[in-house]
This record gives sequence, structure tokens and C-alpha cells, in this order.
Amino acid sequence: MKGIILAGGSGTRLRPLTKVTSKQLLPIYNKPMVYYPLETLLQAGIKDILVIIAPDHAGDFLKLLGSGKDFGCDFTYEIQDKPEGLAQAFLIGEKFIGDDSVTMVLGDNLFEDDFSEAIQSFESGARVFAKEVPDPERFGVVEFDENMKALSIEEKPAQPKSNYCVTGLYIYDNTVVEKTKRLQPSDRGELEITDLNMMYLQDETLDVAKVHGRWFDTGTFESWYEATNFARERAMQESA
Ligand code: TTP
Repeated sequence: MKGIILAGGSGTRLRPLTKVTSKQLLPIYNKPMVYYPLETLLQAGIKDILVIIAPDHAGDFLKLLGSGKDFGCDFTYEIQDKPEGLAQAFLIGEKFIGDDSVTMVLGDNLFEDDFSEAIQSFESGARVFAKEVPDPERFGVVEFDENMKALSIEEKPAQPKSNYCVTGLYIYDNTVVEKTKRLQPSDRGELEITDLNMMYLQDETLDVAKVHGRWFDTGTFESWYEATNFARERAMQESA
């Protein structure tokens, strides 16, 4: 199992902070944001990690993360020239992924859960993680039946069919590269991860698991602040 941390994007919602640095290098309490998704991968035993970054602050990521030696892993770096969608990661990462499966985590997502079991037991298809939220219309929304079988996935629907959104952790088998090559850019010019998940749904190989603990998508000031409070409380508990 390979790992990808997707840490490009423009971070427009965190301006003016992101005029001088990358969103994923901003602090969440006592660590740079990108450490949290990195810990999610490391905790699951993933040691071969591709970090995808935007051109602007690439040098700062190298300075912070280095070879991976300090974290007990190996980093590979790739530049995403323009933020052309989450699924583009699998085209940029084609060579890195090789013949393996891949777990991708978004560089601005903070999870409380330990996903070791879900990642290590993965065999084929796709596995995504859903969380109940008050504002599902901001995300990819998944509807499922009583057996957690996914019925539909929609990107930012005006009328969400459930309150469950797809969070920023995705596990895919090796067909992800070939599937991504068949995607067309959406109206906003991006290769959408929701479209990719829909391909797996059509193949009946999409597995949806629930996120049990807290989850933060830290891309707005409000969620960034909440995540900071959570990280602070957790750090205090750990040191108590
Ligand atoms: P978003 O928060 O959707 O986008 P953004 O980071 O550009 O922020 P904003 O909407 O405020 O301008 O992205 C989610 C994560 O995915 C984040 O870590 C950035 C990353 N990302 C990429 O690396 N490449 C991309 O093409 C996109 C769209 C996002």
C-alpha cells in the first residue's frame, strides 16, 4: 500500500495567510497542518508516501519534511502545476503508484480515528469514509441503505439525500489510474474525486465506512479554529 498526501490547491478561503505560505504549512496548535494527515498514514503503517504540492511553496515542504528519515518513512515529491482537481493526483502519481494500491489523504484534513484496520484489510475496489455533518451541501454526499451499501454519491448537491459527506481519506486499488484517465473535467475544470467514486459505485466495488471520531476539514477559518482547539485538548490529555 502506497500513500499520497495531496497538499496543493490555492487556499483562497484562508487568505491573506495563504498569500505568503501554503495552507498545509499553517499551524494547527503546535504542529504544521500537514503533520496530522501524515500521522494518519504513518499510524496505518504506510511508509512510502508521495507528497503532491503546488509550485509556490514547494521548497518549504522539502525543508519541513525532508527525505522522511525523521518520520520513519520515504517521501517522494511531485508538483501539481495548477489545482485541477483531487483526482489529478492519480495521474501525477501514476509512476509512484506502480502496481500497488493507494491511500490518499488530503493535506488539510485532521482525523481522530485510527484507520489501520480499514487500510490494512483493504483488498480491492475503493473504500471511502463518511461523516455525518450539519452542512452536507458543501461536500460530496453519500446516500446508503441500512447495510451501509452506497446508493448514490453527489458532489455539492443543492438537495442532499443524506447528511453524510465523504471525508478526505480514500483507499483505491490499482485500477484508480486507468479510471482517472477516463474522467472528463467538470464544469469547474477539475477532475472530480466524486466522479471517480461514482465509477467504483457503478462497478459495485465502492465500500463506505463511517468515521467514528472527530473529523476536521481545516480549509476555513472557522474549521481551522475548531481543529486547533481539538488538537490542543488532545495534546494536553496526552501530556497529562
Ligand atoms: P480545497 O479545500 O477544496 O481547495 P483549496 O485548498 O484550493 O482551498 P480554497 O477552496 O479555499 O481555495 O482542497 C482540499 C485539499 O486538496 C487541500 O489540501 C488542497 C488539495 N488540493 C490539491 O492539492 N489540488 C487540487 O487541485 C485541489 C482542488 C485541492
